[in-house]
Amino acid sequence: MATQFKIDGLKASIEGKEILKGINLDIKGGEIHAIMGPNGTGKSTLASALMGHPKYEVTDGQVQLDGEDVLDMAVDERARAGLFLAMQYPSEITGVTNSDFLRSAINARREEGKEISLIKFIRLMESKMKELDMNAEFAHRYLNEGFSGGEKKRNEILQMMMIEPKIVILDEIDSGLDIDALKIVANGVNSMRSEDRGFLIITHYQRLLDYITPDYVHVMMQGRIVKSGGPELAERLENEGYDWVKEELGIEDETVGQV
Ligand SMILES: Nc1ncnc2c1ncn2[C@@H]1O[C@H](COP(=O)(O)OP(=O)(O)OP(=O)(O)O)[C@@H](O)[C@H]1O
Ligand SMILES: [Mg+2]
Repeated sequence: MATQFKIDGLKASIEGKEILKGINLDIKGGEIHAIMGPNGTGKSTLASALMGHPKYEVTDGQVQLDGEDVLDMAVDERARAGLFLAMQYPSEITGVTNSDFLRSAINARREEGKEISLIKFIRLMESKMKELDMNAEFAHRYLNEGFSGGEKKRNEILQMMMIEPKIVILDEIDSGLDIDALKIVANGVNSMRSEDRGFLIITHYQRLLDYITPDYVHVMMQGRIVKSGGPELAERLENEGYDWVKEELGIEDETVGQV
């Protein structure tokens, strides 16, 4: 059965302040959904809440991946179930090399006794790094430590390509990328498109969507998805900004705002 990711009425708070006010999204395998929206409207909060970041308290709603209750799972269980998030600001982890991290992440998704062999792992990593035009030294560097902004983003895509998740959430994967790197990252994403994998791509710019064609575009404001459409919606936002959406919906302050 094709992958199914269902978000139903998801609400989440931080320190008692409600940020997500009822998110509904249905992502099927093979589909690419883009989320756009002004700053501070809850996009990264949605990504973090889905992955189970401890800071965000889910207060209502349901999230299911292939019929399994995601909200019931610990962070590592979510990753094992096939959820993957490339964060807007990836963390640096001193003491863990990129290749150690990747190998553990791959093996965490496999059953005991079916771990990837070292030789296969190295071959796979080398070929994916080549595809992403990454220097081989990055395998042995500490995870994200001292990586430039663009190098971190490329490394997130390397992780995605090696871990082969079912649901890929990319939070501003295009920020900080030069034009060539943007194309390389987009090619990486496109090479991973498949019937059993769904994508949720958070971005501010049509530019990324020129290379990765979304099936659906959603606009987030005030912690909700307020408008959905096809790729043409992203084009209109790029040309006209968000004022027309706010006018149409009678929204004055699009941010999550104060409680
Ligand atoms: N850990 C936190 N502590 C306090 N406030 C937070 C925290 N995380 C998010 N917020 C607040 O929640 C709101 C939504 O933040 P979020 O990062 O989800 O926005 P965003 O839509 O991703 O914005 P951007 O486009 O700028 O990345 C903001 O007002 C932010 O300050
Ligand atoms: Mg954000």
